[in-house]
Amino acid sequence: MKKTFQVLFVVLLTAVGADSQSFHRGNCPKPSVQEDFNVTKYMGTWYEIEKLPAVFERGKCNQATYTLLDDGTVKVRNAELLANGKISSIEGVAKVKNSSEPAILDVGFFKGAPDAPYWVLSTDYQTYALVYSCSNYFGLFHIDFAWMLARTRVLTEDVVSQLHDKLTAAGVNVKRLTVSDQTGCDVMT
Ligand SMILES: *[C@@H]1O[C@H](CO)[C@@H](O)[C@H](O)[C@H]1NC(C)=O
Ligand SMILES: *[C@@H]1O[C@H](CO)[C@@H](O)[C@H](O)[C@H]1NC(C)=O
Repeated sequence: MKKTFQVLFVVLLTAVGADSQSFHRGNCPKPSVQEDFNVTKYMGTWYEIEKLPAVFERGKCNQATYTLLDDGTVKVRNAELLANGKISSIEGVAKVKNSSEPAILDVGFFKGAPDAPYWVLSTDYQTYALVYSCSNYFGLFHIDFAWMLARTRVLTEDVVSQLHDKLTAAGVNVKRLTVSDQTGCDVMT
């Protein structure tokens, strides 16, 4: 029962966000993920270049810092700069569920709340990363999220365009992506 309410709450939040394009009929697609994913090389800071949807976005300069812990899990720290000039951050933990599929992680931010999938579709570790997250609800519909990340606050158009192609291949409509504001972020370091 509690879980049902949580799910409804998430659904409601998303609906209120008015981005109904995040809802899709049927189950999640299963895009291919980064081969031979090496989580160690993936650690460090990544900046958000584009994402979908923009529902939960409040601030700008969004970035994520990943740290490998001794037990093999990953500490996640997401930070953003709010309009009032304050830095807002949230911490969570990501882990690989099945060591045969190292690019497929689950990430959790709140105790008791369901973990969200975190699929690394593609990364070269040094420049870009493409992350996809999709959850099924009642076998009726799914809601998806995607992030294009980079090691710097800008990514060349070439790479952006290649990553758009990869997202398209994964079944994501790239017209739904929003460009993240990574200007005036000096206070974030
Ligand atoms: C993963 O990357 C780290 C850091 O570059 C390296 O030391 C390690 O050997 C790599 N692991 C595998 C399985 O390739
Ligand atoms: C782990 O992944 C492999 C490869 O995809 C799969 O064959 C295996 O069944 C999975 N194991 C579990 C426990 O899900």
